[in-house]
Amino acid sequence: MTTTFEPTETADAGSNNEAGGIESFTVTMQVRRYQPEFHEEAYWDSWTVEMFGTDRVLDALHKIKWELDGSLTFRRSCAHGICGSDAMRINGVNRLACKVLLKDLDTSKPITVEPIKGLPVEKDMIVDMEPFFQSYREIMPFLIADDSKEPTRERLQSAEDRERFDDTTKCILCAACTSSCPIFWTDGQYFGPAAIVNAHRFIFDSRDEGGDMRLEVLNDKEGVWRCRTTFNCTDACPRGIQVTKAIAEVKQAILARNV
Ligand code: SF4
Ligand code: FES
Repeated sequence: MTTTFEPTETADAGSNNEAGGIESFTVTMQVRRYQPEFHEEAYWDSWTVEMFGTDRVLDALHKIKWELDGSLTFRRSCAHGICGSDAMRINGVNRLACKVLLKDLDTSKPITVEPIKGLPVEKDMIVDMEPFFQSYREIMPFLIADDSKEPTRERLQSAEDRERFDDTTKCILCAACTSSCPIFWTDGQYFGPAAIVNAHRFIFDSRDEGGDMRLEVLNDKEGVWRCRTTFNCTDACPRGIQVTKAIAEVKQAILARNV
């Protein structure tokens, strides 16, 4: 059964309440909930809260959890866009809750918050990340060096060689890209953009010797060829990584070795 809780108040942007000179406003947070201990089906719940111009979606969720409903469940750690644990669908698009300022959204309407798609929901915003990390492990996300060439000092690399994979080093494994991919939604076996981004990070590292093995893994029927270049992943990435470009480069690398 789906239960819908209507907002009890209408959002009213621009109230005169101030704290430290920062104007406050009310905003309605409409949150997709799944509480399997109490309800078989997911349902919508909503709260209207007073927030400030410096607050982010994560602050509104904290306010609800700490002051209104302690059962609201979500992941977060750093609260500064580094740990990647609070990816969720905010007004229908994947974002990190700690990086979205409420004032940048239309607060005259309820702000919807849902779990990311394509991964099993365990409770409210918490999804089972195991399928995501399984794909990540399969691409061997670590430096594979030739032991016979073990250096006596650090493994040197030119600035140009380092630049080759700089973009994909920025990944924080938030899963915003993979869970915005329509192929991943319909086929949970697809490796997904994040695994390919992290394979790219090592395939194009001049110090690494495991590129062929990773290309072999991604040449699988659930590998890079499932990508349909929808660019959802690039749009979703909170780190600004050119995800679709990285996938295209891995495809080209597979073709270049003629496998
Ligand atoms: S590529 Fe971007 S969106 Fe995908 S997991 Fe890494 S940081 Fe998140
Ligand atoms: S809480 Fe760490 S990235 Fe948002």
